[in-house]
Amino acid sequence: MQQDLTDQVALVTGAAHRVGRAIALELARQGVHVMIHYHNSSAEQVRDTLHELKSFGVDAFDVRADLSNPDGAQDVMTAVQRAFGRLNILVNSASVFPQGSFLEATLAEWEQTMAVNLRAPFLLTQMAARLMLANTPPSGVIVNIVDQGVDGPWLKRPIHGISKAALWSLTQNSALALAPHIRVNAVLPGPVMKTNDGMSDAVWQAMGQALPLQTTGDGADVARAVIYLARETFVTGALLHVNGGEHLA
Ligand SMILES: NC(=O)c1ccc[n+]([C@@H]2O[C@H](COP(=O)([O-])OP(=O)(O)OC[C@H]3O[C@@H](n4cnc5c(N)ncnc54)[C@H](OP(=O)(O)O)[C@@H]3O)[C@@H](O)[C@H]2O)c1
Repeated sequence: MQQDLTDQVALVTGAAHRVGRAIALELARQGVHVMIHYHNSSAEQVRDTLHELKSFGVDAFDVRADLSNPDGAQDVMTAVQRAFGRLNILVNSASVFPQGSFLEATLAEWEQTMAVNLRAPFLLTQMAARLMLANTPPSGVIVNIVDQGVDGPWLKRPIHGISKAALWSLTQNSALALAPHIRVNAVLPGPVMKTNDGMSDAVWQAMGQALPLQTTGDGADVARAVIYLARETFVTGALLHVNGGEHLA
């Protein structure tokens, strides 16, 4: 069965720009009120995203929090409670993306990555679940945005890969623990947005060409996968690859 998302309330982390923003906008297009979380995004980015969200006729608010600090997750959920008093959809998209060999990885990198990519989604899942179980009837949907580390070791980004593999494990564990009222799923994007480290268009296009489907994707591809998982009431514990077949190559 499909669930109508109109008038539901969503929280999307890391949503002032890039993939998180695309997810928030697609939810708003479906009639969902949205709380966008951000950390270091500019006031202008936040304002523009809120403006675009509201153009769909929904309510939209923002909350700033550092998710490497456990108090940050609590601050985000407090803002949701104050603004809406309820929650139907949580999307854990905020993430750090450290690069470097396994032997060079530092303790600080490990702790920052696990805190943002794994601990924050864990804390937000627990807090969101408590709010969702208070809905009448008890119900909710959680979508975790993972990465290719789920499909196997990632030589250039081992710490990131480990954090996302663990986020997939969190997805499965919470899907089982929170059933039947709350569904928890994951989306695994392929190259959908260039990294911010000056990658050239040529390198980006070559990444796309190397995939079975011979193209890169975009944030809207990921967003539509989130909408699918939010709507489909018989799907939990699922991992949806939106990656041009990258896991097959
Ligand atoms: N881009 C891709 O092609 C791709 C491919 C595979 C998977 N993914 C996954 O898709 C998701 C979104 O991708 P993206 O490229 O849009 O990610 P991104 O730009 O690297 O980061 C997403 C957000 O994480 C937030 N963030 C980082 N550190 C934070 C902290 N300490 N506290 C709170 N928020 C923090 C940032 O918010 P501020 O900017 O406001 O600080 C940022 O907007 C991620 O989970 C990523 O792993 C993306």
